[in-house]
Amino acid sequence: MNTNLGNNFLEVDLSIPKVALVQINRPDAMNALNGEVRRQLAQVFTELSFNDDVNAIVLTGGTKVFAAGADLKEMATAGSTEMLLRHTERYWNAIAQCPKPVIAAVNGYALGGGCELAMHADIIIAGKGAIFGQPEIKVGLMPGAGGTQRLFRAVGKFHAMRMIMTGVMVPAEEAYLIGLVSQVTEDEDTIPTALKMAQSLAKMPPIALQQIKEVALMSEDVPLNAGLTLERKSFQLLFSTEDKNEGINAFIEKRKPTYQGK
Ligand code: HXC
Repeated sequence: MNTNLGNNFLEVDLSIPKVALVQINRPDAMNALNGEVRRQLAQVFTELSFNDDVNAIVLTGGTKVFAAGADLKEMATAGSTEMLLRHTERYWNAIAQCPKPVIAAVNGYALGGGCELAMHADIIIAGKGAIFGQPEIKVGLMPGAGGTQRLFRAVGKFHAMRMIMTGVMVPAEEAYLIGLVSQVTEDEDTIPTALKMAQSLAKMPPIALQQIKEVALMSEDVPLNAGLTLERKSFQLLFSTEDKNEGINAFIEKRKPTYQGK
């Protein structure tokens, strides 16, 4: 894929059919998310959203660190107006609005914006040595990319408040227990497990997967009746897909389905 990224902080591996592996590569700064990393993430996720050859995405920081947060050095002298004019919400939105399943494979620190980045994924696979946290309070800040909202919704008030207010570091096993992580693996298995899961998702009917993602994420925003209505409409919509015919026919004919995304 020609990502035309300039100063390249991301590696995009498209060698597995229908799967994209996106790796943040800024090891000198613990993968801290400076503006350029976030711009590149937005660009890559936008391109992958439109790429019909990709059905599932794995996002990782590699085997050592996921991301140690926003780049504190880049924020050190910034004032409110400058921060506002950076419009970083546009970068985050590009990831949040990706219609395809996104799996975060987390090793090492996922702190501040790094934890928030992981929470942009649909599924989080963490190595045993992974550490999650929202330590912004310790530098006089607060979460700024979903930590007060996505974390709250993922783990509930009392776990979220503990993390946000104290900045405590939460190891992978504990993160799993509170619902911040989908699955814990040995550290060396994190990325392979995520890739295997992505390959299996990539074989699922893509329209159905995308409808699931869109409707399920809506449950965080809409009243129950509106969400149930939306779910019913999307469910009904799937009845005009070829993939639904293929899925049910394959079941009846006792064979494996092959989905076309139609
Ligand atoms: C810039 C960072 C960084 C960060 C680490 N580095 N985290 N640079 N921004 N967030 C750099 C260090 O300055 C250092 O560079 C190198 O990476 C290695 O880090 P060390 O601190 O020497 O490593 P270690 O002692 O192992 O400690 C690891 C750590 C610690 C626990 C992750 O670095 C740390 O506490 N980092 C800050 C974590 C944090 O506060 N994150 C939240 C940021 S605010 P040099 O050049 O000295 O070798 C945020 C707001 C989100 O995320 C808002 C929306 C985006």
